[in-house]
Amino acid sequence: MTSHDSRSPDFDKSHWHRQLLEHRSALFAVLVTVGISIGGMVEIVPMYSMSAGPETLEGVTPYTPLELAGRDIYVSEGCYNCHSQWVRPFRDETLRYGEWSRAGEYAYDRPFQLGSRRIGPDLHRVGGKYPDAWHWEHMRDPRSTSPGSIMPPYTWLYEKTYDVEDVQASMTAMQTAGVPYTDADIAGAGATIDAQATKIVSNLAATGANAQQDKQIIALIAYLQRIGVDGRNAIAAQDGGQ
Ligand code: HEC
Repeated sequence: MTSHDSRSPDFDKSHWHRQLLEHRSALFAVLVTVGISIGGMVEIVPMYSMSAGPETLEGVTPYTPLELAGRDIYVSEGCYNCHSQWVRPFRDETLRYGEWSRAGEYAYDRPFQLGSRRIGPDLHRVGGKYPDAWHWEHMRDPRSTSPGSIMPPYTWLYEKTYDVEDVQASMTAMQTAGVPYTDADIAGAGATIDAQATKIVSNLAATGANAQQDKQIIALIAYLQRIGVDGRNAIAAQDGGQ
């Protein structure tokens, strides 16, 4: 029995907080609930009262089917274990990577790939940073483009193929999660994929690479070249090109 115990003879009965509140558990519970509700409202109400909110960035559009396929490969290969996709608003980061990441850029990233580890560099502004051929070389043998790199080679992506039906299933899942793919987008995925993959293959062929358009590496390159691009353009338009 301690002196703080209410059963103790020297318990300080005169303290107003104990007498008025702590000894009246029902009243105390009601007051705690009221207190927490006010705190909650202060946090939650502003979110509902914003019309569109700063979270929306005009010009951010969903991934194309091929890019979505590449994103699925990115997730299944666990690239997020070494790469973040989140440029923080600090000078050292924006100098290295570019424009810092805005919330609205992740609108169609389900689930988002923020990542929590940076064994490799952040990838949120990698879209358009290198030509397709750089990625082709780098993914096959990271040290060929980045001497001393500890990134593992991903040679199987040059053998394994992606499946249009799987991409369509991914699109349907995204649709359920609120990404605005239409049924026509999903039905026509095969043709859309074909058109985009052909372009990448011809870019690669121009540098002498013998690429086939149904290989996973093509989808991954499409995805890497897209990351952060819409956001960067939207931010530039919003800031008047700053
Ligand atoms: C073991 C950690 C590790 C894993 C896993 C990993 N990377 Fe990397 N990555 C690195 C490191 C380190 C670098 C920096 C050196 C280099 O360019 O290779 C890098 C660089 C890169 C770059 C160039 C970034 C830039 O701005 O120069 C890209 C693109 C990239 N990785 C993509 C991927 C993709 C896609 C995957 C998954 C298929 C992946 N990485 C998996 C460690 C990793």
